[in-house]
Amino acid sequence: MSKFDKRGNPVSYHSQSAIDDLDKAFELLAAYQADPMAATDAILAEHPDFVMAHAFRAGMFATATDKAFEAELIKSVTAAEALAGKANGREQLYIKAARAWLDGDFERGVELWGRVSIAYPRDLTALQFAHVGDFFLGYSHMLRDRVARVLPHWDRGVPGYGFVLGMYAFGLEEAGEYALAEENGREAYALNPQDGWAAHAVAHVLEMQGRAKEGVDFLGKTAGQWAPNSLFAYHLFWHKALFHIDTNDAGGALNLHDEKVSAGGFGQALELLDGSALLWRLQLLGHDVGERWNDLADKWETRLDDGYYVFNDANAMMALVGTQRTDAQKRLIASVKRRASGQGTNAMMCREVGVPACEGLAAFGRGDYALSIEFLSPVRAKANRFGGSHAQRDMFSWTLTEAAIRLGDRALADAFVAERLSWKPESPVNRAWAARAATLKQVRAG
Ligand SMILES: [Fe+2]
Repeated sequence: MSKFDKRGNPVSYHSQSAIDDLDKAFELLAAYQADPMAATDAILAEHPDFVMAHAFRAGMFATATDKAFEAELIKSVTAAEALAGKANGREQLYIKAARAWLDGDFERGVELWGRVSIAYPRDLTALQFAHVGDFFLGYSHMLRDRVARVLPHWDRGVPGYGFVLGMYAFGLEEAGEYALAEENGREAYALNPQDGWAAHAVAHVLEMQGRAKEGVDFLGKTAGQWAPNSLFAYHLFWHKALFHIDTNDAGGALNLHDEKVSAGGFGQALELLDGSALLWRLQLLGHDVGERWNDLADKWETRLDDGYYVFNDANAMMALVGTQRTDAQKRLIASVKRRASGQGTNAMMCREVGVPACEGLAAFGRGDYALSIEFLSPVRAKANRFGGSHAQRDMFSWTLTEAAIRLGDRALADAFVAERLSWKPESPVNRAWAARAATLKQVRAG
């Protein structure tokens, strides 16, 4: 006879206490609190035949989007597949999703977790894996709509409701519905102040609306709740650093880099992304970031040939440009080009965005601003194809604006600046660019 988890989803395992323990691990993951992996490993040590625990572990490693975890992903997928005969339909879909991801078909993996979420709308974890997958695939509207599909099945009486609201808030934000996003995000955060994803959704709204002072304030005041034991704090502090930059406080941003963003030792790709993206912005604005690039570049260099996820590679390129490691830059571009001719989701991402993104950043590093713009300008329109958030992909706009000014191209500089001012008119960063652009000579084409 089937047993059920706390949200009523069928689980094909005999021990209710193991199922209850796995529920706790699900909720740790939903809140980004330490440590769902350790909790799952402890369950599996006692219950090695618990197929849902293996499938959950596989999903966690898959959605880390880091080749460094692939061996563990293989272990979990293999273990889950070996037990698939005992799994119910829901669990079998989880296993197929993780297998698709492992085989490089990220789109299929996300679709399959999404199918679980449709069939079992109160399956918090399938929704989260699909949601995070939507993020890594840059599916801005699916970040909202996949959650909207299941919302009618949730209310405050269902455990974990706040997590669903937090996901919905982030999806609304990525879809540009800022007022509703903020409302849902703040409600989710009030329901659970340890919910890092809910705080994150609010931070994104403040970022997209140029409310930098409020951002510093909100994340500063709430950090005491979401930061302790968080596996995601580095990213929220990255957001806080962006707010500091946009309040003319580069020193505050550098301190956050040193004390918070780097606190985990840049042990995983997701942390390295934030380190690169922060230093890149500071350096573009002319701030001296000292030796900070070296550690990042060293750690990225161990991943240059992994061909796993080109969003990582583009951020690796920033560190290689920051350290002027031209041989490594060439190696990375060759690797991304090689992957572009292959199969799977990452190959598509490499072709459409990764190759021109890496070429454009490398050209910027060589001071070839015209070539950098040639590569990066067309990427702007489709950059979502290689994943991330609007806030992360904003680095293309930053780089293009700075490149146009350094090139001395008044028309381009004015265009990029106008675009930035249209959504962040008060930003001191944008205003400084506008002032520099205004000093360039007008040259009319034709
Ligand atoms: Fe973010």
